[in-house]
Amino acid sequence: MKHTITLIPGDGIGPEVSSAVVTILERAGLDVEWESHLAGVEALERKGSTLPSDLLDSIRRNKVALKGPVTTPVGGGFTSVNVGLRKALDLFANLRPVWNIPAVPSKYTGIDLVIVRENTEDLYSGLEHEVIPGVVESLKIITAQASERIARFAFEHARKHGRTRVTAVHKANIMKMGDGLFLSSVKKVAAEYPDITCDDRIVDAACMHLVMKPAQFDILLLPNLYGDIVSDLCAGLVGGLGVVPAANLGTDIGVFEAVHGSAPDIAGKGLANPTALLLSAILMLRHIAEGPMADRIMAALGTVLEKDHILTRDLGGTASTAEFTNAIVRRLV
Ligand code: NAI
Repeated sequence: MKHTITLIPGDGIGPEVSSAVVTILERAGLDVEWESHLAGVEALERKGSTLPSDLLDSIRRNKVALKGPVTTPVGGGFTSVNVGLRKALDLFANLRPVWNIPAVPSKYTGIDLVIVRENTEDLYSGLEHEVIPGVVESLKIITAQASERIARFAFEHARKHGRTRVTAVHKANIMKMGDGLFLSSVKKVAAEYPDITCDDRIVDAACMHLVMKPAQFDILLLPNLYGDIVSDLCAGLVGGLGVVPAANLGTDIGVFEAVHGSAPDIAGKGLANPTALLLSAILMLRHIAEGPMADRIMAALGTVLEKDHILTRDLGGTASTAEFTNAIVRRLV
């Protein structure tokens, strides 16, 4: 089947990793027309908006997009394209599977968990203002509707994928109303899923437990900010940001991107590891009913890492982005 997919190459290492992934998908035989769109600072310069309407229209039409990372200025400048995209398309669920990939160096074994992060509210609502000089108020928005929606997503995901436990992560001991509402919403939805165990951890303790004994977790369900932070922590448990994929999902739209950012420190040097975006593309292939192709690419990636021992520099190897990509293409059968 022919697919039309929106492609956002992004900036920093985005164009390098997205071009690597496009090459692998096409060489694997994906029948695809890419609709490529700018986002971020380049889009602002050329089209007057960091998130141009033709980009949003393309995703709404195609229902699926592959996205490279986009830089967000720190402290000032334009608001995050990533947050804007998730809000504009109501991509309420951020799904981040984290597992030990054989041959990728890690201090731990047996990790196979999924992070489900609420993607639309919390402190990412962008509602900040200066009350008086020297005093800023940032509003943390938690609603029952969004909390129940993400909880239902997590429990449905558990059922569909044979997972047995959902752990809600919160700070309801301090933020008794906001995080309290998140937690009570999760518990309310959990009652509809008696086949799935539901428990909860306070976010600081959850971080300690993740670092001490990560293999105990199955699905972690978190509000937006904790989800963002804990995702990077979990990436560190299995080899770093170069190997963790993500999907931003709404009711009928999926935007697939790596957990990592635009990595300005290595951009343009041919050093970026395309694995995280490739694994995101594998999630995308399963989403568009191209499961067998996803399995073939996964097998080729496994062979390159495990048998050929070709690894990029972030994983302790010496391969460039191009060498690693070519190795995967050679192993596609
Ligand atoms: P980052 O994820 O870009 O980089 C953190 C560290 O990990 C750096 O040392 C980098 O070299 C390394 N790294 C990341 N991805 C890698 C890869 N594929 N291969 C090898 N090494 C890799 O995080 P940072 O520096 O905090 O953010 C840079 C920019 O990216 C910021 O503007 C941030 O807002 C943006 N960002 C965008 C995201 C997105 O588009 N979804 C997500 C996270 C950050």
